[in-house]
Amino acid sequence: MSLQERLAQAKNRAQNDGAPVEKPADPTAPPTPPPPPPDGEPRDAEAEAEAAAETEAEAQEQHLAEEAAHARREHDRLAQLRRRIHEGLVRALGPQLYDESVDETELERRVRDELRKALEQETTPLSAHDRKRLVSDTLDDILYNGPIEPYLRDDTVTEVMVNGYDAVYVERDGRLQRTPTTFLDDAHLRRTIEKIVGRVGRRIDESQPYVDARLPDGSRVNAIVPPVSVDGPSLTIRKFARDPYTMSDLVEFGSVSKEAATFLRKCVEGSVNVVVSGGTGAGKTTLLNALSGFIPAGERIVTIEDAAELQLQQPHVLRLEYRPPNIEGRGEVTIRDLVRNALRMRPDRIVVGEVRGGETLDMLQAMNTGHDGSITTAHANSPRDSLSRLETMVLMAGVDLPVRAIREQIAAAVQVIAHVERLRDGTRRITKVSELVGMEGDIITLQDVYAFDYDAGMDEDGRFLGTLRPTGIRPSVSRRVKDQGIDLPAELFDTAPAAASR
Ligand SMILES: Nc1ncnc2c1ncn2[C@@H]1O[C@H](COP(=O)(O)OP(=O)(O)O)[C@@H](O)[C@H]1O
Ligand SMILES: [Mg+2]
Repeated sequence: MSLQERLAQAKNRAQNDGAPVEKPADPTAPPTPPPPPPDGEPRDAEAEAEAAAETEAEAQEQHLAEEAAHARREHDRLAQLRRRIHEGLVRALGPQLYDESVDETELERRVRDELRKALEQETTPLSAHDRKRLVSDTLDDILYNGPIEPYLRDDTVTEVMVNGYDAVYVERDGRLQRTPTTFLDDAHLRRTIEKIVGRVGRRIDESQPYVDARLPDGSRVNAIVPPVSVDGPSLTIRKFARDPYTMSDLVEFGSVSKEAATFLRKCVEGSVNVVVSGGTGAGKTTLLNALSGFIPAGERIVTIEDAAELQLQQPHVLRLEYRPPNIEGRGEVTIRDLVRNALRMRPDRIVVGEVRGGETLDMLQAMNTGHDGSITTAHANSPRDSLSRLETMVLMAGVDLPVRAIREQIAAAVQVIAHVERLRDGTRRITKVSELVGMEGDIITLQDVYAFDYDAGMDEDGRFLGTLRPTGIRPSVSRRVKDQGIDLPAELFDTAPAAASR
């Protein structure tokens, strides 16, 4: 109900004072305020109506706030209960859970039994709906993810890697650790993989021996089985970061210097086209997400990804996701199809999760034709390497362009490359921020604006002491940024302060 409607209703009520106030039939309608006390005085119906409407609005606001607080409390309470019940079940059932001689229906029966017992002992009151939900969630947890289940629930673990049935690794704080957990054998691992991918409607078998998919919670799963995986099935789960890193987080971690972070922010605000390059797991998507966060709220953004990972907070975000072909090999919607379609959606900026093939040509063209400030990532070993990768990927579009023309396209489209690496010490850092400054003959000229200082050496724990330092170059992209009315202080590029602070 709009404020106007409420005002009218209240006015009506005030004028019909004395008549019994009818309760609204709609149960979601705000509570009716008590009728004004009869005081015999002639009253100003107008003012009273307004006052009534105001109280009503206030009451409703308070009501909503109370409801939200209640929902939060309920949610926490259920989460706690779920954890408690889950732990109890694992204790009660123990190794039976992973015992292969117990067949699946039998195991499910036992789990249900235990679950029933546990719920009977629970003193927390539960609605039928909550109860049903709790049972199905717990069954999922316990029956489907197998021995890696605890790591999937552990928030300090960012990645779970099953190299083989007896080699389960996790990543915590950027470091790989081997866990004591094992599957019973290849068959057990294989069954678990089938259950995990089956739950998201995918299939894995000899004819389709690998799957890349997104789980209901946003985590990404990749599974690959023989014959293409020579030593047995393997599974990698990159857990969904519920709270993605922002640029200030990255600064705090020492992944990027404050100056370089500011420079990159101003580039994004100033509609500079940026490519993030790096190896697998180096932090490309994370940086892309952090950079995209700087796109001004008024702009219309279309994101295109293999599996939707980006979490943008702006109001005008349209998210597109790759669709794999079905079992008969039909219905695939490629990243390239999506980039082309995105151009018809009147975007201000296009953000492509990662370019891997022919879509690179369309992306470069978009960057060159009015979609300034677009961002993407590419798999590469250095900024220079990313240029040759882009070139190769353009050729994958199947158009017959001379190399020089492709390079000209790249040089005109891309202004800045930020390169991320996972260093030997397990930390992830931006190791270079470079800019493209045109062509010399057939070669694209690239200059580093910031570079990681490897010369600083390592501390006793083997951690790199270096930082991302300015090279002293005043980037020529500055003019473009300043033309957008964004100031770019020269201090960002001074070598002196960083040297002094060491
Ligand atoms: N600067 C960073 N510091 C710490 N962890 C990071 C950093 N950047 C990324 N990560 C973590 O590293 C993992 C891989 O990052 P992601 O951005 O997905 O890599 P990529 O896209 O290059 O494969 C994720 O778990 C992410 O949270
Ligand atoms: Mg990625």
